[in-house]
Amino acid sequence: GKYRVVSTKPMPGTRWINLLIDQGCRVEICHLKKTILSVEDIVDLIGDKCDGVIGQLTEDWGETLFSALSKAGGKAFSNMAVGYNNVDVEAANKYNIAVGNTPGVLTETTAELAASLSLAAARRIVEADGFMRAGLYEGWLPHLFVGNLLKGQTVGVIGAGRIGSAYARMMVEGFKMNLIYYDLYQSTRLEKFVTAYGQFLKANGEQPVTWKRASSMEEVLREADLISLHPVLDKTTYHLVNKERLAIMKKEAILVNCSRGPVIDEAALVDHLRENPMFRVGLDVFEEEPFMKPGLADMKNAVVVPHIASASKWTREGMATLAALNVLGRIKGYPIWNDPNRVDPFLNENASPPA
Ligand code: GLV
Ligand code: GLV
Repeated sequence: GKYRVVSTKPMPGTRWINLLIDQGCRVEICHLKKTILSVEDIVDLIGDKCDGVIGQLTEDWGETLFSALSKAGGKAFSNMAVGYNNVDVEAANKYNIAVGNTPGVLTETTAELAASLSLAAARRIVEADGFMRAGLYEGWLPHLFVGNLLKGQTVGVIGAGRIGSAYARMMVEGFKMNLIYYDLYQSTRLEKFVTAYGQFLKANGEQPVTWKRASSMEEVLREADLISLHPVLDKTTYHLVNKERLAIMKKEAILVNCSRGPVIDEAALVDHLRENPMFRVGLDVFEEEPFMKPGLADMKNAVVVPHIASASKWTREGMATLAALNVLGRIKGYPIWNDPNRVDPFLNENASPPA
């Protein structure tokens, strides 16, 4: 092949690799037997000639790597992820290297995991499963693993972009929850959806669902019974949920995070879980992955899974394909790639800008 493209990890499916090969690329996949590659490992992989790299969210794509990629003649980098807080886009820009991500294909898969964690926390599924396996079940009891009924409660969404909106729709329609959301952008589509569904319920003699766009994050935290976090991680959302904000939430609220770990002050969360046994949390992401803050693993009111929100076969294959297309598009000079700093052109596609 004329072009050398490196993938720092084996990726699902064959479509991504075939489309690169068909377009004249030689594809090299790193098979190092370690989960997380260091910057040095990746510099070695890039070598003397490399046109583009597909990398992972666990890698630190900053000055060192973009400088090395630029020296090797590289023009393109794609994260195999929608989030790109691991990528220094300014550094990439400095070397005229385009940065891509993989939005869209993971929206529903991620929202479905957030919904799964919501239900698991509400109905204490993991705790109850442990109880069964431990042989502790002695027969039905009125008080055994009583949890929260979602119907008629309020779901709070912080960050109503693609994923947050998809999650909101699932919870509103699936469980007849009222919606309160906070986002800088108004999500008129989401509002229309809840209004229409509310009218449908009313026409059928049921209690209609309602929506409200909150004017502050605190309003959501105070009023919602179930809160799911879907912001982008940046300086403004670091420790968005801290000790003070946990304190204003309902004592029996449920908090779900499938965005990025540092959005929550995890040490403060552990204290809060300890002091409020009826408060529950469902976490897919952690502040310092792969570690959990001390004490979290002992909390029965926490459901924890290892950053698997986008982990469906269809989605992961789609992410790999999009990442390959991102790199290929830039190498081949497709028009969409004229702007080298083209991360996430679809962000907030279903929201309208503030008035
Ligand atoms: C996964 O966390 C992603 O950002 O795609
Ligand atoms: C974030 O990427 C979102 O789509 O909500």
